[in-house]
Amino acid sequence: MKIGIDKISMDVSNKYISIEELALKRGVEVAKFLKGIGQNQMSVVSKNQDIITLAYMAAKDIVDDFDREHIDLIIFATESSVDESKAASIYLKNYLGINDYCKCIEMKQACFSATAALDFAKAHVSMNENSRVLVIASDISRYGINTSGEVTQGAGAIAMIVSNGPRILEFNNDEVAYTEDIMDFWRPTYSKYAFVDGKFSVERYLGCLDKVWQRYRQKHSLIELKAICFHVPYTKLARKGLENITVNENIMEEFIHSINFNKRVGNIYTGSLYLSLLSLLSNTETLKGGDNIGMYSYGSGAVAEFYSLKLVKGYKEYLNIDLFKEKLDLRKKVSIEEYETIFFEESTDVENNSEGLEFYLKNILDHKRIYELRKEQ
Ligand code: HMG
Repeated sequence: MKIGIDKISMDVSNKYISIEELALKRGVEVAKFLKGIGQNQMSVVSKNQDIITLAYMAAKDIVDDFDREHIDLIIFATESSVDESKAASIYLKNYLGINDYCKCIEMKQACFSATAALDFAKAHVSMNENSRVLVIASDISRYGINTSGEVTQGAGAIAMIVSNGPRILEFNNDEVAYTEDIMDFWRPTYSKYAFVDGKFSVERYLGCLDKVWQRYRQKHSLIELKAICFHVPYTKLARKGLENITVNENIMEEFIHSINFNKRVGNIYTGSLYLSLLSLLSNTETLKGGDNIGMYSYGSGAVAEFYSLKLVKGYKEYLNIDLFKEKLDLRKKVSIEEYETIFFEESTDVENNSEGLEFYLKNILDHKRIYELRKEQ
């Protein structure tokens, strides 16, 4: 059985800021943020958006009536959970209209969880060949205003359907995983902001890459990779990772395509690697069916994995590339002052402020989240 990614889409919120303007406002050299960090724009969310609204906006583009009937598992990977108990995928199942004979769960391990969710989905499909699994990666990254991590924030979601006989990418079943118990980045449940030991996190991102890459090469020396995607906390770090493991010029060229979207969105945590994959597939002119793409997944704390995916012939026909580019281009630019105001707004103040959003958090009443889907859209 060939199992893999049959459909994939994204959402990147409807607002962004310019990283150049952020540098000017913070009194930082513009070149540090644009070149030293390697980011151009950053997606921003407001109080009526959360991981569930972002996930809905990503998933609605790929879930059709056949999927509504056949999806029997929804895995929501996130580290920005809105509830310690109820899985975010239950809300999503309801608003997407997926059948009731479906399991809904949430998964966590920093930026690694979407990769874990794909592993879980693969195992599920291998036991149930007609199953379709909806895998969501949705996060909002928050370090705080005027912190060194601020320039590496972002928000967005990726939705993927895993099935037998996929039309976009097949799993090569070659994953190598690695775990070490470290405090490089963490988000205690009582804090709205992430805590980070920035330099240490960079060192371990690269150190863990070395661990999984060396072992991957020993075990799978015959797999030829035509491109490599990375978890992208900011594009400069992914570039360093790439330069540490290869000097292949073609792979370097594909890498430029793989960071195009991430430069404009920022770190969407567990979805970042898959945003990079989507960026690569949307922008490459050379990758074709049968080509293998290496994938480096890193989640602080830390779990890393290197694995590969094989492109299916004709994959571009099943990607809505115009829609992905439109989603990036149609975002509204907000000033740094507006972003600072939005940043401190609480979702408990939401009350009927839809801002033209198709799906939004309308209110929190009796500690229950109430969403609204605008019918006319
Ligand atoms: P910082 O201290 O502000 O920056 O923090 P810096 O001083 O390290 O400078 C950054 C780079 O800009 C350096 O380049 C400078 O030389 C360069 P590098 O040494 O890296 O090659 N630079 C310039 N370049 C051109 N022109 C100039 C200029 N000035 C300086 N004028 C840091 C940067 C990334 C540490 C900070 O933003 C941060 O803490 N971010 C959050 C943590 C993070 O993203 N870590 C990444 C690895 S951990 C990870 O990926 C997991 C994560 O996604 C979470 C999860 O798993 O859930 C974060």
